[in-house]
Order: sequence, then structure tokens, then C-alpha cells
Amino acid sequence: MPKILAFAGSGRKESWNKQLIKIAARGAEEAGATVTVIDLSDYPMPMFNQDLESEEGLPDSAGKFKRLMMEHDALMIASPEYNSAFTPLLKNVIDWASRTESENEPPLAAYKNKVAAIMSTSPGALGGIRGLVFLRMLLANIGVIVLPDQHAVPHAFKAFDEDGSLIDEQHLNSVLALGAKLVATVRKLNE
Ligand SMILES: Cc1cc2nc3c(=O)[nH]c(=O)nc-3n(C[C@H](O)[C@H](O)[C@H](O)COP(=O)(O)O)c2cc1C
Repeated sequence: MPKILAFAGSGRKESWNKQLIKIAARGAEEAGATVTVIDLSDYPMPMFNQDLESEEGLPDSAGKFKRLMMEHDALMIASPEYNSAFTPLLKNVIDWASRTESENEPPLAAYKNKVAAIMSTSPGALGGIRGLVFLRMLLANIGVIVLPDQHAVPHAFKAFDEDGSLIDEQHLNSVLALGAKLVATVRKLNE
């Protein structure tokens, strides 16, 4: 049974991307995966600074986040778009978890051979899809296999109902299908 770690690249309490990732998580669970949905607000980390790392190592929450990454086969990320890229919060947690903690640890151990599905939602008409270009590139450069499929939901302010589900059936089905596709891909890679 594939184990998936899912989170949004937003710490905002009312984040639309947090709602979106829960829908993708449902799609993956319905396809037979175990999904751990986390909120990055529960893993507060200072802005990455190499002097801080040299003096103190990984902050506790960065270590916890990195270990969670290593315990899972795959990732699902819903990231807001900030000025056409992904968020600094997301880049920061990715940077901390990319660091080795001992001489024996292989580089990028939290990322190599992981599979990821990425998605976004924003109030704009493009749904944050421009940020996914950068996120896809970053993840691929650190060894993650990113599914060609992705999904962006525009006009977030009117896209979700009171229960946090997507109102439009095509968007809902696409996000559920993205979760299911991730599960099918992980299974095929492990055959
Ligand atoms: C610094 C900043 C830059 C933003 N740039 C964009 C942008 O380039 N494109 C876009 O669609 N929305 C942009 N937004 C709006 C975000 O999509 C919006 O704040 C959204 O609610 C963030 O996602 P969340 O609800 O998951 O926190 C920006 C917001 C901030 C704070």
C-alpha cells in the first residue's frame, strides 16, 4: 500500500490550497493509499541559513519533517502561486529537508526516487499554474519523479463549498483522479 505525504505550500489558516490537498488525499485513499496530510504551520522553521545549520544542525521541526518525507513513498503538494512562483514557505521546508545530517547519509535522501503529484489553486484566472512550472523543475532537479498530470483550480474564492469540496464536478474529478494516478504510478514503479 503506497504511503503518501500530502501538504499545502501555505500556512494560511483559511488556505484554499489546504482544502485542495485534502481532496487529492481523498482520491489517493479511495485508490488504496495511506495518506498523511500535514499542515506546514505545525513544522515552523527559521529561514534556511547555512551558519545556523553549521552551529545548531537541523531545527527540530525540520528534522521531523525530513523524517516524515523519508517514511513515505510519494508526495502530494498543493502550492499557492506567489508572483508566478511557489511560496517561500515551501522552498524553505524543501531546502531544510534536503540537507544531510551525517557523512554516511546519501545526498537528497528525502527526495531521490520519490514520486510527486502537484496542484494549485488561486483567486486568479490561471489558478496558480505558473507556479507549478517552477515547482516541477525544482522537484525534478532534486531527484523526484513528478507526474506529467497536474491540476490548477482558478477563482478559488468561489470554487469550494462550505464542506471544503470543489463545486465544479470537472475540477473535483480531476483532483480526485490526480490522487488516484499517483497511487497507480507508485504501484507500477514498485512492481
Ligand atoms: C506575495 C503574494 C503574491 C501573490 N502572487 C500571486 C500570483 O502571482 N498569482 C496568483 O494567482 N495569486 C497570487 N497571489 C494570491 C494568492 O493566490 C492568494 O493569496 C491565495 O489565497 C494563496 O493561497 P492559500 O489560500 O492556499 O494561502 C499572491 C499572494 C501573495 C501574498
